[in-house]
Amino acid sequence: MPPHAQIRDLQSHAGREVTLRGWLHGKRSGGKIVFLLVRDGTGLCQCVVEASTPEPYDLAKRMGQESSLTVSGVVRRDDRAPGGCELAVTAVGEIQSVDTYPIARKAHGVDFLMDHRHLWLRSLRQTAILRVRHALIRSAREFFDSNGFTLIDTPILTPGAAEGAGTLFPVDYFGDEVYLAQTGQLYLESACMALGRVYCFGPTFRAEKSKTRRHLTEFWMVEPEIAFAELGELMDWAERLVCHMVQDVLRQHRDDLQTLGRDVTALERVFPPFPRITYTEAVELLHAPHVHERLAKQMEERRTTLNQWIGELARLEEEERTARKGWQQEKLAEQIQALRENIRDLEVVVGNMPRHMADALQFEWGRDLGGDEETIISTEFDRPVIITGYPKRAKAFYMKPSPANPDVVLNMDMIAPEGYGEIIGGSQREDNLAVLEKKMTEEGMDPAPYQWYLDLRRYGTVPHGGFGLGIERTVAWICGLKHIRETIPFPRLMGRMQP
Ligand code: 4AD
Ligand code: MG
Repeated sequence: MPPHAQIRDLQSHAGREVTLRGWLHGKRSGGKIVFLLVRDGTGLCQCVVEASTPEPYDLAKRMGQESSLTVSGVVRRDDRAPGGCELAVTAVGEIQSVDTYPIARKAHGVDFLMDHRHLWLRSLRQTAILRVRHALIRSAREFFDSNGFTLIDTPILTPGAAEGAGTLFPVDYFGDEVYLAQTGQLYLESACMALGRVYCFGPTFRAEKSKTRRHLTEFWMVEPEIAFAELGELMDWAERLVCHMVQDVLRQHRDDLQTLGRDVTALERVFPPFPRITYTEAVELLHAPHVHERLAKQMEERRTTLNQWIGELARLEEEERTARKGWQQEKLAEQIQALRENIRDLEVVVGNMPRHMADALQFEWGRDLGGDEETIISTEFDRPVIITGYPKRAKAFYMKPSPANPDVVLNMDMIAPEGYGEIIGGSQREDNLAVLEKKMTEEGMDPAPYQWYLDLRRYGTVPHGGFGLGIERTVAWICGLKHIRETIPFPRLMGRMQP
């Protein structure tokens, strides 16, 4: 057998005979030729099998999608082929022949795909998302590692709440009730007093009882904590981190973004400085006539798009009825399914807009901003916007009130553009023992399990702060995904635990 090669490296083997090992992604036949589209995890390669080589030809004709196989052949440069090369096949080896792959190349609804997530991961779209996710994680780590931060692994089993008791997952710990970590922050604060600049990166858990396109019950968060940092410095770090991550993905994964149909010009605008507004200014935007005029116009535009799509759907359905060839019908069925889904989604968006606009007008100072408000605010800006100074009563117990206005805290949320919502939440921490104790009592928290945390305010307290960036929200934004469920290999959502 000719030597093994990976599809990614084929260019360097031009003119030589190699063997690919992988899976049959798809195939096409015409006349006396079969085109096998083979993937091996590093790329896709078109392999040309001619009837003049009967043994591989018969095998190629017989094998179905996702059969595992080896293909040997001579590498030929071809600018039209994906990856710039194709293989002129001399031999095909069957590892396992498959003839009924559940996710055949026809249209499936999202529930079916989610039930087959373990197989769905093999699609071009999902592999592109997984690579971008990896790149974002690597970029975040590299950012902190090269800026003097020490990685601290914080525990997952924890005795108490840090982000509100309402979203805790209880675990039976030898008869005691403990909880899955909502954040690494409290532990990170103690490591911060030891090392100055630290970060943690791990899975976090929230029993979110809402089914939204932005919430998972298990998600990954990267959290830096910085000694002596005040709010302004925290915003600078957050801005630098996000720019670094976006630039890395643009540099290394443009082809994946293209596979996903992402409009990269929106990402190319992600440069400092990000607009910074206060919560009070954000509330003013929710009430502002110019914002509502723009929303009304946007709603009209979306209605027009919706009507165009409905017309297009009727045309495709007619075409499907009259299509003669099986492959034409299959391709049309796929397009129709995608269009139907887009129409359904847009109908929901357009249908909700009047209510969201009315809610925005009635939004009262003092409430936390929710996803709908964030969407409206984000569409006012062409890059992420940082909102500071939320009402104290809407935020976590550890946030430090502003000396200038004790009703608001020294916090910041970063809202992604294009309606992707909050990607970062953070704050300066309350560093005064008495103030923190008083706040915990007001919140009805039992201070006993938090004595270790309060010790940080007893022994050498200093101003400090940090933030958390949600990886999946960031992946959704960078990849331009409508729903967070595709941003993580095996999503955990309310009502979804399988596979
Ligand atoms: O704003 P959050 O709750 O902040 C914290 O947990 C702080 N302890 C972080 C810190 O200061 N060290 O969460 C931070 C980010 C959000 O901005 C969002 O990106 C993500 O975590 N996030 C979620 N992502 C997916 N599903 C959920 N249910 C999420 N909840 C928060
Ligand atoms: Mg938050």
